[in-house]
Amino acid sequence: MLRAGRDDDADEIIRLIGDCWAEYPGCVMDLDGEVPELRALATYAAGRGGALWVAEQDGAVAGLICSWPLQDGAWEIGKMYVAKSHRGRGVAHVLAEAAEAYARARGAERMQLWSDTRFDRAHRFYEKRSYVRAGPLRVLGDKSNSIEFAYAKPLVGIAVGPLDAAAAASAERPLAQTLVACVEAGASVSFLLPLSLDKARAFWRDAARGVARGERLLFAAWLDGVIVGTAQIAFAVQENQRHRADLQKLLVHPDARRRGIARRLLAAAEAGAAAADRTLLVLDISPPGGAAEGLYRSAGWQEAGVIPGYALNPDGTPCDTRYFYKRVRAAAGADANAGEEPRPAPALPFR
Ligand SMILES: CC(C)(COP(=O)(O)OP(=O)(O)OC[C@H]1O[C@@H](n2cnc3c(N)ncnc32)[C@H](O)[C@@H]1OP(=O)(O)O)[C@@H](O)C(=O)NCCC(=O)NCCS
Repeated sequence: MLRAGRDDDADEIIRLIGDCWAEYPGCVMDLDGEVPELRALATYAAGRGGALWVAEQDGAVAGLICSWPLQDGAWEIGKMYVAKSHRGRGVAHVLAEAAEAYARARGAERMQLWSDTRFDRAHRFYEKRSYVRAGPLRVLGDKSNSIEFAYAKPLVGIAVGPLDAAAAASAERPLAQTLVACVEAGASVSFLLPLSLDKARAFWRDAARGVARGERLLFAAWLDGVIVGTAQIAFAVQENQRHRADLQKLLVHPDARRRGIARRLLAAAEAGAAAADRTLLVLDISPPGGAAEGLYRSAGWQEAGVIPGYALNPDGTPCDTRYFYKRVRAAAGADANAGEEPRPAPALPFR
């Protein structure tokens, strides 16, 4: 049962958080020196303009979460803990859902949080909820020698942005889920059926390495706080093709289609390529036609021709491939569509 947290939950909250910290080497609680707010957490959260929730099971506090506003449409999640005995039952999702819904109802545009670099289970949880690593680490200088990752995600509507290597690595799971769903829906995008989540994750791990090496750009799209789409720009490596790149893996989860997400991803990818001085873009569609072709044609891509039997459909049957190209202007951030307003690549929708 989820309920508003109260100051008189303090004893249970302090014990629960202390137990969680004790699971990690070197994590110690100096209650009055470093976290005195735990003695009256509901009042503390309210004082910051937010709230505390607890999950109660069998009359005991099984988990908690706080959320409060920062600035410029950002809200922060804090004090997210679930007792070890209650893990694996969805308690954390119920808590996070409550905090995100509360923030959204109060105008939050994005969520962010800090998580100790040792709390690897928490990282997996946030990543499952489409948070990505965002920005530099934070060193607290406390008795636990805490170093923290920042995680963030846009919360409302459609948001599209480039992922740096750390963000890309942390987005592996939702990107893999999107890829698997697209292939299962029939997309011919390098893979055959069945495509396991593990194999898809390995693909995105490699893509993140490519981002780290400066070989590609990776873009993600969120819909109401969930990663549902992606696109990549892969830089040609030949020394006589330094002006060229491939548009790859433009994917939108089947549940999120026909909302303009692919169009936003395509615009961001083209602008990103242009900003990197890649002025000739190439892509291929297998099989020709289908949903993607109308998008590319309407975005100014030119057909270059068809190669019969170039690839296989996910079910293994042969399919033709149609090539397209587009010239984009190299001006930093300029959109390539002649006659259209410049559309710079949106910055990461968080700080
Ligand atoms: C192609 C794909 C990325 C489109 O994603 P989307 O978010 O639904 O696309 P958008 O809503 O941005 O639509 C953009 C345009 O695409 C075209 N389009 C999208 N879905 C379409 C459909 N089902 N039928 C016909 N045209 C379609 C339309 O031209 C549309 O513009 P409009 O809405 O102004 O008519 C998505 O269907 C997908 O992931 N398919 C599987 C993977 C794939 O084929 N990727 C392309 C590899 S080359």
